[in-house]
Amino acid sequence: MAENTGTATITIHGKSYDLPIHTPTAGPEVIDIRNLYAQADVFTYDPGFTSTAACDSTITFIDGAKGELLHRGYPIDQLASQSHYLEVCYLLLYGELPSAEEQERFESLVTNHTMIHEQMHNFFRGFRRDAHPMATMVGVVGAMSAFYHDSTDINDAHQREVASIRLIAKMPTIAAMAYKYSIGQPFVYPRNDLDYAANFLHMCFSVPAEEYHVNPILARAMDRIFTLHADHEQNASTSTVRLASSSGANPFACIAAGIACLWGPAHGGANQACLEMLKEIGTPDRIPEFIARAKDKNDPYRLMGFGHRVYKNFDPRATVMKESADEVLDLLGVENNPVLQVAKELEKQALADPYFADKKLFPNVDFYSGIILEAMGFPTSMFTPIFALARTVGWISQWKEQLADPQLKIGRPRQLYLGATARDYVDIEKR
Ligand code: ACO
Repeated sequence: MAENTGTATITIHGKSYDLPIHTPTAGPEVIDIRNLYAQADVFTYDPGFTSTAACDSTITFIDGAKGELLHRGYPIDQLASQSHYLEVCYLLLYGELPSAEEQERFESLVTNHTMIHEQMHNFFRGFRRDAHPMATMVGVVGAMSAFYHDSTDINDAHQREVASIRLIAKMPTIAAMAYKYSIGQPFVYPRNDLDYAANFLHMCFSVPAEEYHVNPILARAMDRIFTLHADHEQNASTSTVRLASSSGANPFACIAAGIACLWGPAHGGANQACLEMLKEIGTPDRIPEFIARAKDKNDPYRLMGFGHRVYKNFDPRATVMKESADEVLDLLGVENNPVLQVAKELEKQALADPYFADKKLFPNVDFYSGIILEAMGFPTSMFTPIFALARTVGWISQWKEQLADPQLKIGRPRQLYLGATARDYVDIEKR
């Protein structure tokens, strides 16, 4: 826990209370209100946690005003251009960049856990063919606790480690199987001679009937998408994982909870929603109509892929993703793709509009990731599963960090109760 570096005084009904202030290594100071209820018999009120730090962490830091994202101190743009996903996984999990030997050991460990228990194939077959791959993933990842009993004891450090590796290694296999099942193609087993991203493309796009060669530029773009989504501090799905884990739930159940939360269109589901929006707009001449709807106070419509709870400047991941989109579309010869034309024009018009400027609404990472994924051949329903796959390491790192915290308490928010006060039950004939 951080040092007490100052005091804030709060006066409630004429009585003053001193509250410790903690100074972080970066970011705003934090007022420690943990003893406030015991001392003053009041709660604090913060729906959506806009001003509340729910934990201390050393993993990821975001400066929303500057548009900065650091993993263990390293800027995301450096990691995206100079590192690769499995190295970033190591960094997030263990706190430092690996030596060559550590990296080789880690990559070989992950590679040797890519297969899933053969009996788990039956789970996939139990889902309807048209099930959304996220629905399948929530079910199958939760069901891992029914197969990997030797890594569900959260009090055993070795088991925690094994569960972490299993989840990172098997998530691409599970996501690819969910996809293959949804399109009626046979499951493709992982190939351990391929790297993490290339293997995922192989499991998604190869078929037994013909040879499939992974294009190294597409594999690199896939790896970069994974890297850009690896962690993002205490976002909704990560907080869900932490809350689920605070009760002592097993790692597979916690990650299944994170996947469920990520699915929502305000979070991981935004990349699918964004591409659907771009297709609905269809042609650049219709953009003003959609911008007008997004600005209309009486219309709940929002521009998907715009805005962020934390970034009030360009999302640094979006900058890298935009470059990657240009590269991939160029390679595939689809730079005149109508979706991309609409995306580029929408970005231009929204950024020039005072509504978006005043509210500090910039394109987020999802604005561009969908375009790349579609160009690679993924259907929109796979966008969020790919995000879930990539974010697994972030969830796991935060989960491990929380379990190592000696002050860990079950997460149990309070409420501002506005319902009826105690009243007597009335028999049905007297109501
Ligand atoms: N289009 C139009 N207006 C918007 C948008 C948008 N995309 N986003 C926010 N606003 C407006 C709101 O209407 C609100 O206006 P008001 O002050 O007049 O009421 C103001 O901007 C602030 O919005 P909030 O909803 O209070 O901001 P919050 O931080 O709670 O929401 C969120 C952030 C959920 C991401 C929001 O911007 C949004 O819904 N964006 C679209 C969905 C999206 O792209 N999500 C992906 C997030 S990134 C990720 O998960 C990887």
